[in-house]
Amino acid sequence: MIISAHVTHKSADMKALELIGRHDEKALLHHLRRIQGVKECAVLRTCNRVELYAVTDEPSTTRNGMEAMVSRFIPFDHEQNLVQFRSDLESIRHLLRVSSGLESMIVGEDQIQFQVKRAYELAESEGCIGPILSLIFRKAISVGKKVRTETKVNKGAVSIGSAAVDLAERLLGSLEGKTILVIGAGEMATLIAKHLIEKRPNAIFVSNRTYDRAVELAWYLGGQAIRLDSLYDYLHKCDIVLVATSSPHVILDRARVEKAIAKKGEGEKLIIIDVSFPRNVADDVRLLKNVEMHDIDGLRDIAQENIMRRKKEVFEAERIIAEELSLLEKKLEEMGASEVIRALRQKFEAIKEVEIRKAINRLNHSSEDIETIVTDFANALANRFLADPTEMLKLASREKRVEILKAARELFRLEESKNVS
Ligand SMILES: NC(=O)c1ccc[n+]([C@@H]2O[C@H](COP(=O)([O-])OP(=O)(O)OC[C@H]3O[C@@H](n4cnc5c(N)ncnc54)[C@H](OP(=O)(O)O)[C@@H]3O)[C@@H](O)[C@H]2O)c1
Repeated sequence: MIISAHVTHKSADMKALELIGRHDEKALLHHLRRIQGVKECAVLRTCNRVELYAVTDEPSTTRNGMEAMVSRFIPFDHEQNLVQFRSDLESIRHLLRVSSGLESMIVGEDQIQFQVKRAYELAESEGCIGPILSLIFRKAISVGKKVRTETKVNKGAVSIGSAAVDLAERLLGSLEGKTILVIGAGEMATLIAKHLIEKRPNAIFVSNRTYDRAVELAWYLGGQAIRLDSLYDYLHKCDIVLVATSSPHVILDRARVEKAIAKKGEGEKLIIIDVSFPRNVADDVRLLKNVEMHDIDGLRDIAQENIMRRKKEVFEAERIIAEELSLLEKKLEEMGASEVIRALRQKFEAIKEVEIRKAINRLNHSSEDIETIVTDFANALANRFLADPTEMLKLASREKRVEILKAARELFRLEESKNVS
């Protein structure tokens, strides 16, 4: 049975999400694999979700263990509905929706499919993936691709990066002529940069831990790279700061921001948009006069408008997911037989190999005609294939185990095979 636990932007705000999301995937995975009953597991952690997936043979014990694990990080009461639990087909359907971008805050965003792939690869490299999660995650990754090629759900500006730039534009009216600082030079900062370029700001500064990467991104933007330790010298020159780093620590703190913006002109505001998870700007920076601060929670209105624009595409994506889910369900149901089928094949392959070798030997070294050798080969195969079942059927008959006789009829389709040609 599959059990999954979900803490997402739909039920939790950034503050709550951060409590669990501060722990990296590996640490969460190690907590999860220790829960009683867990046979396979994976953790998906992104900027707006932490999801735990487990295959278990003790569903209720594992569910309780997962609940205890989440509440160790985020103390929650059940009325809050902060954590959703799903099982079996509902867990799988959810993962396919996640990978397709339908559960994302910015519906249709592409980044999530790489994050699902990363979650799978990490769990696999940690030895937590078995046949069931392997099948499900590989399906989720392929469905994510299919939805994006067969629908337009991801067309146009859809990412947290584009939404952050849209928010900046709304707050300032226009970014034309404004001075902007981007902190970070990774994937998200690059996405932000791509959208900034179209807005024709006056100047762009890029600051990053690795200075060379800041130089690279600044070059792409036609901006200026600055070292992370000197970014406070530039804050007063900026209208807006966009922050996207994977630092687990605060990068902008209240005291230094306050000191830096004291140099700003009377009434001039500094807008900070921090899309990092966990956030890189100390929460009390928002209390400063002339500072307006937003995090991913601040993108909700833009996200809502994006959903409305993509309704038709979402409908089409859901149709694909339903189709793929029913194929996957069939495969999962068949998995129960896979061990027996493998053992059966192995046994018969071994018999076949021996008989082929005998036949080839006779062909090469005796003067018998081919028809005799082929007939003997076919008889030997049939006899050896049927030896064990014949013996077991006789035994079953002696012991009056009619169900075995019935099963054999069903297994070999004996009623249907009267007219074998
Ligand atoms: N990718 C997404 O879809 C997405 C969506 C929403 C939010 N976010 C959030 O955006 C942030 C950046 O994600 P990303 O996808 O751009 O990651 P990424 O491609 O791995 O880039 C990480 C960036 O963070 C910097 N960094 C890492 N550790 C640091 C530290 N201890 N101190 C200072 N800088 C550090 C890196 O600097 P170096 O160049 O020196 O390594 C790099 O610029 C994350 O918090 C993520 O949760 C990402």
